[in-house]
Parts: sequence; C-alpha cells; structure tokens
Amino acid sequence: MTGKCDKDLFGIEYNNESRCFTLQMEHSTYIMGLAGADIMAQTGSEGMAERREYLGHVYYGKKLRSGAPRTLLREKEYSYMDGKPGDKCTFMDGFPFEYSFGGTGDFRPNSLEVRNADGFLGCELTYRGYRIFDGKKKLEGLPATFSKPGDTPDVKTLEIDLEDTALGLVVTLSYSIFRGLDVVARSVRVSNEGEQAVILEKCLSACIELPWENREIVTLSGSWARERSIDRRPIGHGRVEVGSKRGISSHQEHPFLAICSEDAGEKCGEVLGMSFVYSGSFTAEVERTQHDALRAGMGISGYNFSWKLAPGEAFQAPEVLLVYSSDGFGGMSRTFHDLFRKHLIRSPYLHKKRPILINNWEATYFDFNKEKLLEIARVAKSAGIEMLVMDDGWFGRRSSDNSSLGDWVVNEEKLPGGMKALADEINALGMELGVWFEPEMICPDSDLYRAHPDWALAIPGRRPSECRSQFVLDLTRPEVRDYVVTIVSGILESANIAYVKWDMNRPLTDLGSAETPGGEILHRYMLGVYELQERILDRFPSLLLENCTSGGGRFDPGMLYYSPQIWCSDDTDAIERLSIQEGTTLIYPPSTVGAHVSICPNHIVGRTTSFDTRGVVALAGTFGYELDITKLSEEEMAGVRRQVEQYHAYNDLIREGDFYRICSMSPLSKNKTDRPSYAWMSVAGDKSEALLSYVQVRGGANLRSEVLYLAGLDPDAVYQLPDGRQFGGDELMYAGFVMDKIWGDGAPSLYHFVRV
Ligand code: DGJ
Repeated sequence: MTGKCDKDLFGIEYNNESRCFTLQMEHSTYIMGLAGADIMAQTGSEGMAERREYLGHVYYGKKLRSGAPRTLLREKEYSYMDGKPGDKCTFMDGFPFEYSFGGTGDFRPNSLEVRNADGFLGCELTYRGYRIFDGKKKLEGLPATFSKPGDTPDVKTLEIDLEDTALGLVVTLSYSIFRGLDVVARSVRVSNEGEQAVILEKCLSACIELPWENREIVTLSGSWARERSIDRRPIGHGRVEVGSKRGISSHQEHPFLAICSEDAGEKCGEVLGMSFVYSGSFTAEVERTQHDALRAGMGISGYNFSWKLAPGEAFQAPEVLLVYSSDGFGGMSRTFHDLFRKHLIRSPYLHKKRPILINNWEATYFDFNKEKLLEIARVAKSAGIEMLVMDDGWFGRRSSDNSSLGDWVVNEEKLPGGMKALADEINALGMELGVWFEPEMICPDSDLYRAHPDWALAIPGRRPSECRSQFVLDLTRPEVRDYVVTIVSGILESANIAYVKWDMNRPLTDLGSAETPGGEILHRYMLGVYELQERILDRFPSLLLENCTSGGGRFDPGMLYYSPQIWCSDDTDAIERLSIQEGTTLIYPPSTVGAHVSICPNHIVGRTTSFDTRGVVALAGTFGYELDITKLSEEEMAGVRRQVEQYHAYNDLIREGDFYRICSMSPLSKNKTDRPSYAWMSVAGDKSEALLSYVQVRGGANLRSEVLYLAGLDPDAVYQLPDGRQFGGDELMYAGFVMDKIWGDGAPSLYHFVRV
C-alpha cells in the first residue's frame, strides 16, 4: 500500500494487491484499477513482456470504507459472438477505460485522438507509474483550482502516467482532492517523448465510465439574454452532446453537465456534476453504451482543433471538476460554491462587500458626456451608491457600436480633461470610478485596423464576418497581446480607476492568422485572453475586475479565476432573472453573479415589475444599478435608499452563506408544478441567521397561503423574525413556514431569521 488515508478516511492510496487507486473524500470515494495484462500480451509487440496493464474506472459514488470492487472492471465479461471472451478488440470495446483513446477498438466517445507523423489515427495507453503528493501543481497558462499555502496537506494529488510506446507519448492524468469537499479536480498533460511529431485531434480533460442505469442528464442551455436555463431529460441510448464552437463558453450551452438518478431533487438523490474550468469552445458528452453503462467526457472541443506536438513538447488540457452529491442538486451546488470560493477565485474582493455601483449603459447608452455622468453620480451618491461605472462609448469616435474598438483614446469632446478629470471629480464626490473596455476587439472602422489590418483574425483571401461591426483581435500573437496590455494599462495608470468591466461581444469566426496554424487558433486565443487578464491583474492587483460577454456568454469557472464577479445577463428583467440566476447559481456562488436594478418597462422584455421585486432579485447577486437615477420618482428614490440599507444588512450573509433553493419552476424539483414562484435562502455557516427571498411570479385567486419548507437551519434552535415572531428550526424545515399572503404578479418578500 502506498499513499495513505488519514483517520478521517481522507486521502489517496494505491493498493499493490488489488492494483487499485482509491481517492477518499468527505462523503465519496473514487476508485480506478489496473487490468487487462492478458489482453495487452496479445499485441505481441516488443517491450510487452513485462505484462503491461490498462487503467480502468472502478467506482465513483457514496463513500466506501471497505475494499475496492474491482470486479466492476468486468475484465473478461464481454465476448464477441459466443465463447470468445478475452478477444482484444472486444475488450477494447467494453473495458471502462479511465481515459479513453481512439483508433484501436474503443468505439465509444474517445478522450484522446492522435495521428502519427504519417497521418494514421491510433493510440493505445497503458500504465507506466504514479506519484502521490500534498498540494496541487499550477497548470501553466490556465486557470485552475489551487491549494493555498496553509491548506497544502488538505489538498492531495495523484498523478498517473500512461504511455503509448509506439508513439512515444506519455499521458499524465492528474487527480486532486480537497479535505471537506466531495470534489475530484482532473486534468491531463500529453508529452511527446518520441522522435516524431504527432497531431492531437482531440484531447479531453476527463472521461468517466459509470455502470449506472436509468439516469437523467441536466445541462444549462439558452441564448443571448436568456442564459443558463436548466434542462433535464432521460439518457437514452446513443450520444448526448452539448458544446460550443464559438471560441467562448457561450450563451447557448454551458461547460457543465450533471448526471442524476431519476429521483434526484433539491435535497435527495444522486448527482454527479462536471464543470469545465475553461472559457472557450468545449464539448461535454455522454453516451449510453451497448452495455448500458454511461461514458461521459468533457474538454476542449474537437471542432477546428488540431495540435501539433513536436518531440519534447507537451500539451496541457484544462481542468474538469467532478462533484458527487448524494444530497441532490442542493448538495452539488453548495459543494461547487465552496470549491470556487475556497480554491478557485483569487481576487482580494472575494470576501469583501463590493462597492454598490451604478452603470450608465441602460441609462444613456452611447449618449453621454461628463456632465451627464456627474449628474448621475451626484444623485447616486445621495442615495448611498458608491461607484460610477462608465460603460461603452468614452473613446475614439464611438457614438454607436459601429466604430473605434481598438482606439482606446479618451474622447475629450465627451470627457473634457480626459479620464483623470472625470476620476478626480467622481472621487471628490466620495465615489469610485469604474470603466468599461472591450480589449479583445478591433473595428474595421478604427485607426488600429487601418494601421494593422493583419491584427484581426481572418483567413487570407476572405473578409471575415462582421458582428456588431467588429472583428476579433488575433490574441494568439504576442505583439497584439503586448499592445492590449500597454493600452489598457496606460488608461488605468492615467487616473484613479477602481474597477474594470471587461466586455467581449462576438463569437470567433474566420479562424485564420498571420502566424498561428488554423487548428491551434481557438485554444491559443483563449490562452492569450488568460495571459492578458493575468498581466493586467499583476500590474493592478487591487483592481476589481468584472468579466462580461454580451451579458453572460463567458460566465464560467475559467473567468472566475481572474474576476470575482461576472455580468450574468443583459436581461435585467427581474422575472427573467429568476431563472437565469437560478441556472447560474446551480454552479456559481451568488457572490459572483453580476445583478443590477434597472428601469421599467424593462429594456429587453418590456415588462414592468415593482422596484422592490427588482431589488430582491439584484440583492441575490453582486447588487448595483443600471438606470438613469436622475429620472427616478421620490418613491423610487426611497426604494433605492431602502435597498442600499438591505444590501449593507444582508450582503455578508448572501456572499458568504450557504445557498439553498427552496422552490422554483425549474425541472430540478419535480414537485414544484402547482405554483409559479421562486424562493431561495442564504444561511450563515454557523446557522445563526438566514435570509429567505421569495418572488411570486404569478398571483392567483382564492389560493391558500403558500408553505415553504426551509432548509439548512439548526433544527434545535429558535429563530426570530424582525416582527418578533419565533419559530423552531425544525418547525420551519419540517412543518414549513406559512408565507404571509401576497398580492400581485411578481410580488416579492424577504424574511430575515435570526437565532435567539
Ligand atoms: C454588452 C454588455 O453586456 C452590456 O452590459 C454593455 O456593456 C454593452 N455590451 C456595451 O456595448
């Protein structure tokens, strides 16, 4: 036995007798085993005399204290036509490979597809060795979960080397576990130790094969302004794939999937969540195989991906996070939230109350000048708002979205005295200044494009498709990245700017470059974006960065590594936001969800909701405003002041607390069909207080008062509401909380329970 689990049964070990690797987490166990030496011997190839083995997946689920059920490897079980078990091709087609490879007999979705120097596709990975160590290595150039110096012994890593001796490839599978969390963080590194170049055509970050039957799949789908809607359906035979080819993780599909038991709901049932720490094109696939097992894979999309690996080079695939919950979707969400807050988001703002901001986008669009901004700022300040964010339109000749991206020079007609004069005047009001950028883009109508037409991604001989009158900068090229860093840094140095909204408003198309091979552009572009944000944060460590991609088109764990919050959606309508924010917080903590109160009728859907409803929904995220505050009525201004107070009273709880969905209209809780309403709770870690937020989407006649079954409370404690009513924690959770009757569509309620 090597490696060791501690007395709490947390750790990683290898058992020489069972030839199994076991990862023991808080409530879950993950087991892999070595097998198939006889099969390998059938290759008859040289160097196989040592009886090499394949790595197979044995078990992932509820914690096992006993030995590993390696029979689940079903080594000799399948036969092709009767009576020939042990035939190699049949074995390859049925063995639960831990990391699957294509071209040699495994016809299920493969994780690795490699062409040799002659263009032939084929790979066969056998076991070479392993290492177990404390802590976790960085993934060069990529966002990934980390162990902090203090918690090094609480994070453990197993690296397993597989190899293809014919190609000279070594594939290192990495598995990290975190004390207290049911998480396995996986990544893959492919090193060419051979003498010839190879081409990687697919290189996923994780593959898992589960013997589970009758499962369902949950994914997050949508479009611009209606991101991350929860989709749940049974898994039939064949393959289900979600993914993005757009060069961004996308509004349409999300780099996440969950496989769950049919009975899984908020509080019960088995759920395996997979989340990809990456912001570009991806694939997430599940196949129900001929033997009714499920094989799931996740990683960089194979679309337009082809990576040449010369001798001595290595390719690092990004990280996939596996979360296992036997407490339903609620358990899965809270594990992701804790993981991201403890081991992914690095920003110094993570545990801080963010300044309440007012953004001028929906207030003015491009039509503003310094006077207008100051007018907004003065009124905002009087209501307790702390930061003014100047959105798109302050540079070049940009008075619509037709021009000037790339020309990051302050438009002094709009802002006389430049950025510094504006910042000084905002600061003099006692507010901070935030500024919008879209650094990854270049407009055909810009001085930058006129000077460097080859800086836009384009296939030679073909004019790229314009989208919002813009092209994409070729961030695969170092000189283009240097330009962006210089230009953004110059503006940030020129004035006291506390916050940047980093926008990105189109997908990547026309993947050609003056320097980078076509099949490498999508990934090298993403590496370029990560490098830019890293360099800028290195230079301005106290900058509060908010990522944004036409709303939430790149709301993913990759971007969270750089920014503690991401603009969730361009749809700011409170009712639409209920489902968008529910889908988002299925994985991401509320502290990351950019959410603002905007004006009604809402600019995107034309709906009118009450000021209070908009407040309750925005309080569930980072909170701020997106409206012309100078035009609000006295009553609405009183609403702003009330919401600002609520923010200060509740944000610590919302930001740091444990999140529970109580009811909703999504398919997660199958029982909730009778009443269109959403309720969620933030509960303090020590259970001393909780905030229940509720929105009745549609009122109805002659309905009984709604009963909500609260969650996460101390069953032995007594909780009190501000009006003096007291309830047992057990009563609130098991007998339920009878809601005060409310009236009207979209009507909100907030209840703050404090333990007495
Ligand atoms: C898209 C963003 O999502 C909006 O909030 C706004 O910043 C616009 N871009 C500006 O062009």
